[in-house]
Amino acid sequence: MNAILKVSGIAKKFVLHQQHGVVLEVLKNLSFELCPGECLVLAGRSGTGKSTLLRMLYGNYLAQEGSIRVRREEGAGGWLELVGAEPRRILAARRHTLGYVSQFLRVIPRVSTLDVVMEPARLRGQARAAAETRAEALLARLNIPERLWPLAPGTFSGGEQQRVNIARSFMLPWPILLLDEPTASLDEANRQVVLELIGEARAAGSAIIGIFHDPQARKAVASRFLNMDDEETREAEEIKEAEEIKEKEKETLHAG
Ligand SMILES: Nc1ncnc2c1ncn2[C@@H]1O[C@H](COP(=O)(O)OP(=O)(O)O)[C@@H](O)[C@H]1O
Ligand SMILES: [Mg+2]
Repeated sequence: MNAILKVSGIAKKFVLHQQHGVVLEVLKNLSFELCPGECLVLAGRSGTGKSTLLRMLYGNYLAQEGSIRVRREEGAGGWLELVGAEPRRILAARRHTLGYVSQFLRVIPRVSTLDVVMEPARLRGQARAAAETRAEALLARLNIPERLWPLAPGTFSGGEQQRVNIARSFMLPWPILLLDEPTASLDEANRQVVLELIGEARAAGSAIIGIFHDPQARKAVASRFLNMDDEETREAEEIKEAEEIKEKEKETLHAG
């Protein structure tokens, strides 16, 4: 398969100017490629830079080193270098190529839930009727009661807002879809719906990069893992896992 995303040697540091200029080195020399239909799950402890990486891929954070290339859907095709790209090019990539489910819904006052969900499709020029049909189907699948659809989601519960956010993100088929803990505050039934939506997107050819808090969800969707812990932490984890396997083998020996 041909890659749709090529990340090569990227690095990210944060300088905390408010705190004596302390430098946080979050990502260092990170490289990987992603193909359509894959689901790459970012693994690693909290604070290893998983969300930071997604923000860099979405063009929110600038990489200080390296290259992030996205295969272009629109216009002449070819590759778009996101690092240092002009803002209008980043915006075009977001409209056509990059979908992103953040952890929180950005609520616009007075815009109805149905319109919030339809917006990505309307921006790409889809007719209102077709967009509405898809939006309603998604909201129903994600168990948002129909009486809420005409209301602005500002006053919804955290879980409801997250489901509206997910419905919005799955309105369109995205060549690359970035998911930052999309199942975090959902109950089992809704989590299952999200996992199904991810499966459908992959089958339709989306390339997905996701962060999943829940190990079950992680296992259910991943076609590949990228461990973002440093070498020392990774080795410690591997030793721990090997010891746990040994313990289990001992137990089964005794039981047998
Ligand atoms: N805008 C920012 N300014 C300063 N530090 C940041 C910023 N964004 C993230 N960080 C820091 O970078 C590290 C990685 O954060 P994050 O990518 O959110 O981790 P993860 O998603 O793996 O838990 C953390 O130590 C966090 O405090
Ligand atoms: Mg995070």
